[in-house]
Amino acid sequence: MGMSPGFLGLLLLSPALLCIVESHVHYYDFVLREKNFTRLCSTKSMLVVNDSFPGPVIRVQKGDTVYVNVQNQGDYDLTIHWHGVHQPRNPWSDGPEYITQCPIEPGSNFTYEVIFSDEEGTLWWHAHSDWTRSSVHGAIVVMPLNETGFPFPEPDGEEIVVLGSWYKDDVNEVVAEALEDGDDTPRSDCYTINGQPGDFFACSNDSTHRWEVEHGKTYLLRIVNAAMNAELYFAIAEHNLTVVGMDGSYVKPIVTDFIMICPGQTMDILVTADQPLGWYYMAARQYDSVRPDVTDYDTSNVTAILEYKGNYTPPALPIFPSNLPTYEDLSSAVAFSSRILSLASTEHPINVPKNITTRMYITTEMNNIEFDNGTDERSGLASSLNNVSWVNPSTDVLLAYYRNMSGFYTSDFPDYPPSLFDFVAEDLSDDYVTTVQGTKVKVLEYNEEVEIVFQGTNVLDASEDHPMHMHGYSFYVVGKGFGNFDNETDPQVYNLVDPPKMNTVSVPKKGWVAIRFKASNPGVWFWHCHFDRHLSWGMNFVMIVKDGGTPETSMRKPPAYLPPCSDSSTIKLQPFQHKFGRKSK
Ligand code: C2O
Ligand code: CU
Repeated sequence: MGMSPGFLGLLLLSPALLCIVESHVHYYDFVLREKNFTRLCSTKSMLVVNDSFPGPVIRVQKGDTVYVNVQNQGDYDLTIHWHGVHQPRNPWSDGPEYITQCPIEPGSNFTYEVIFSDEEGTLWWHAHSDWTRSSVHGAIVVMPLNETGFPFPEPDGEEIVVLGSWYKDDVNEVVAEALEDGDDTPRSDCYTINGQPGDFFACSNDSTHRWEVEHGKTYLLRIVNAAMNAELYFAIAEHNLTVVGMDGSYVKPIVTDFIMICPGQTMDILVTADQPLGWYYMAARQYDSVRPDVTDYDTSNVTAILEYKGNYTPPALPIFPSNLPTYEDLSSAVAFSSRILSLASTEHPINVPKNITTRMYITTEMNNIEFDNGTDERSGLASSLNNVSWVNPSTDVLLAYYRNMSGFYTSDFPDYPPSLFDFVAEDLSDDYVTTVQGTKVKVLEYNEEVEIVFQGTNVLDASEDHPMHMHGYSFYVVGKGFGNFDNETDPQVYNLVDPPKMNTVSVPKKGWVAIRFKASNPGVWFWHCHFDRHLSWGMNFVMIVKDGGTPETSMRKPPAYLPPCSDSSTIKLQPFQHKFGRKSK
């Protein structure tokens, strides 16, 4: 947990002057172990970092490097991912298991070198193995360099809000069973704000998270959606929110009375304590884009209390945010998301690719699959991208790529879906329900300019938002719409001027989203839906970005030690081969 900054001189050339900026090196120890937690009147043992839920905050300045020594004293194989950190040329420390490394086994450790570059604002870290991330996650704060500072008046204080999912059961065990049987995964029992459900729940009164504010001051609220399967609405009673940043990039300030945040996303929000002294609820609830008859969802309301300092008689009950949209309010979600635009100022310019060399059209789909779970033949739930359901190889893709080992993946992830049809129609034929399993990657040349259109589909009548997340990059969201993407008319209304820069974007239910990025970061990078149930069912693929031919445009060398892959000789293309559940006990 100790953080001892070392110092590294770094030369920074700016047009007007040559200045020396200090870029710091920090060291953190992450000790993973089981600890008992009591919520909703019941106690369970849960895997956490440094005994805390959520885990420790990593705090850096733009451009710093952090070494995190992860010591696995728990019972699960696991890895840690630094969500939204671009890690230039360094996929070795990105973290997703079987994509860039094999898992850190119980009793062993691994040191990540987390390289910050252009990110500024709030990001987060989380486990990237099975569903361990439900309890293994925490915030990352990236402060601006002193020279430039924030693109808004410096806030008087800061508040970090990590939104999570709570399961009364041991979620990893329940999920392992569900996947084996082909069943739906468990629903959370409540959501949490900084680990607490809030006082709407039994046995939760005394532990409700409280945020003390001083009247007249302005705070920077840093919000992380670490929930497992839920987009969330969030609001603070009677207080405006001014969104100024998202996913580690600045946005044009949006004044709003609620936000909708996808799992994976982070937001920086200014809040001025300008209301009469008192207690006010901050509350979040799920925004559910699926039809409730398809999957029922967690309708709990998680709360924390914003509490003014000073002398006054506190109310019997804090005020609840009247403007918090209801669970199935699609139009509020769309209205809020469409307001997000890049700041795109002189100090924070953007650079949208305009000469696209690779175009992909990728369908997001729910499927049924026949599989053998080791005991018998079953049919179960799956999900796919372009009708391919991702299967992890036994040796990570990065190592196989770096060492030129064949048999672990194939380079044929399709640029288009296998057939074109009215993707968003009702009652689609069962012909579209099947999917193939594979470990298919898309290979890109260095510096290609890529456009991907993700198309939502209504297969199984199960269309819903899919928060698609890319590792190693942020991308520009240049277009979004409902219905089937039209490649003639829709590109004409793309926003190439100030599109938001994100690392996670929701493909709208029965709609599409278009993103662009320049493949300037060589490596092996994961793409997946940030709903963990869809990730477990295969809504993932990998992009390999080749080296550019010079040392500065090539992947770095692997670290001296990498966690070993237990079975490195054969590719296993069997469904739901999860090394899930406890190693021991
Ligand atoms: Cu938030 Cu693949 O990660
Ligand atoms: Cu999804």
